[in-house]
Amino acid sequence: MEKSLIIAHRGASGYAPENTISAFKMALEMVCDGIELDVHYSKDGHLIVCHDERVDRTTNGSGFIKDLTLNEIKKLDAGTWFDYKYTNEKIPTLEEVLDIIWGKDILLNIELKNGIIQYQGMEEAVINMVDKYNMYENVIISSFNHYSLLKVKEINKKIKTGVLYVAGLISPWEYAKKINAQAIHPVFHSVNKEIVKECKRNNLQVNTYTVNEEQDIHNIGNMKVSGIITNYPDRAKKIIDEI
Ligand code: G3P
Ligand code: CA
Repeated sequence: MEKSLIIAHRGASGYAPENTISAFKMALEMVCDGIELDVHYSKDGHLIVCHDERVDRTTNGSGFIKDLTLNEIKKLDAGTWFDYKYTNEKIPTLEEVLDIIWGKDILLNIELKNGIIQYQGMEEAVINMVDKYNMYENVIISSFNHYSLLKVKEINKKIKTGVLYVAGLISPWEYAKKINAQAIHPVFHSVNKEIVKECKRNNLQVNTYTVNEEQDIHNIGNMKVSGIITNYPDRAKKIIDEI
């Protein structure tokens, strides 16, 4: 029977500092099906894996990623805020993450964080990176900025895209088809059986975030969504295996 894929949100971020190599490696060890991460653009044009626009919350540094060079970003400690055992964990580049995923049968959901700050050329840079590693089969690009998803398709039709949204889209399957996306990525509270059914009928994936509590994982898993994006991939896998 078809089971939902388990996608580790910012890596195994319930157990290790989000969006770090430790969190991604831990997710792979937990035998998840995919990894989700967030990207920004540094001052000197590197794709930086981090959730926030600023480095303040998850490092010992301060400032916007867009104002920092890769060299400056690499000096930051991205682990101690989470736990002292992760002291000196670094913020990775997208390329460093692709290096550890390459050759594995793992889905990679790259979220473009280009809503609050408009990063010129980010779509092209991400696509070039996917092309360099020839990871078209593995990658799905998502964003709350749907203009950016259109741009991705304009640049390269081969790349899969997913429409990120919170709630309030009427007939999201029609919207996704209209912008040539392959998936919808709604918050889990807004998913229902009709949405899953209509998406399946239209050959669209439903990858939903961020499903952490046992009961929620169970409910969402029973709806047979395509993917469950979670901070706790081991917990989700156990529940989904039992459904
Ligand atoms: O991609 C799903 C989810 O990551 C979107 O929200 O804020 O955790 O990046 P956020
Ligand atoms: Ca994200």
